[in-house]
Amino acid sequence: MKWEYGEAYKRHDMAGEIRLPNDSVVQVCDWTAEMPDFMRRADTIFVDPPWNMGNVRTFYTKAEKDRPGMDFLAFSDHLWRRLDDIRPATLFVEMGKEYLADYLMAAKEHYRYVTFYNSTYYRRRENKCYVIHATNDFQTRRYAELEDKDEAEIIAWVAANHPYGCIGDLCMGQGLIGKRAYDNGRSFVGTELNYKRLAVLVDYIAIRERMRQPMCTAEAPGTPVSSPATDPGSVASS
Ligand SMILES: C[S@@+](CC[C@H](N)C(=O)[O-])C[C@H]1O[C@@H](n2cnc3c(N)ncnc32)[C@H](O)[C@@H]1O
Repeated sequence: MKWEYGEAYKRHDMAGEIRLPNDSVVQVCDWTAEMPDFMRRADTIFVDPPWNMGNVRTFYTKAEKDRPGMDFLAFSDHLWRRLDDIRPATLFVEMGKEYLADYLMAAKEHYRYVTFYNSTYYRRRENKCYVIHATNDFQTRRYAELEDKDEAEIIAWVAANHPYGCIGDLCMGQGLIGKRAYDNGRSFVGTELNYKRLAVLVDYIAIRERMRQPMCTAEAPGTPVSSPATDPGSVASS
C-alpha cells in the first residue's frame, strides 16, 4: 500500500532546502544520519517523534525507506543528540505512555524545569498522550492553559503565545507546527523523513501565499501548478 497524502508532493519540488515565508526553511532528511545546519536557528523545539519501535517501523514503511537497524532507545539517543546540538531554550516533546518516563529523565538531564501536560490526539479521549515541556526559564516553566488540551490545540497555543524567535520541529510530518507558525507570521525550521508528508505543509503555504497575491501579477514561488481540491490545513497529525 502507498500513502499519497493528497499527492501534494506532485505539485512541489521537494529536493534540498525548501525556503518558505518569514525566513522559514524545511528539508527532507533522516536525522539518524544527518541534520541540516539551519535547525540550529530554533530557540524553541516542538517535536512529536515516533513513540515506540512499532511507530518507527510504520513511519519508515510509509516513507518507503529501510527501517533503521537499532532499537527504540538507540533511535531516541539519536534524537537527544540532535536536540543537544540545537540546544533550544524551550523544548516540547509529545510522547506516549510507554517511554514517557525515559523522555522525562532525558529532559531532566538537559533542563532545570521539566513538566508535562496530559493531552490527546485526534481530539479523542481514548487517544491519550503527553506533552513534555522543558526549559531553564523560571517564568515560562509551565503554562496552565495547556493542561488537558488536544495536541493540536497545544501546538496552536504555543505557536501563537509562547515567546520564540524561530520554532523548530525535527519530525514535521504534515506540518502542524509549520502551519501554525506560518498562520501567526512566525519563523520555523524543520526536517521530515517522508517527502510526501512534508509536501502537505509546502502546499498549505503555497495556497495561502497565492491567495495573498494581487490578481494579474507573477505567481509566487512555490505556487502549486494545479489547485488541490481540499484544504490540507485541517489534517490531523499521525
Ligand atoms: C507522529 S509524526 C509527526 C506528526 C506531525 N506533528 C504533523 O503535524 O504531521 C512523526 C513524524 O516523524 C517522522 N520521522 C520519523 N523518524 C524520523 C527521522 N529519523 N528523521 C526525520 N523524520 C522522522 C515520520 O515520518 C513522521 O512524519
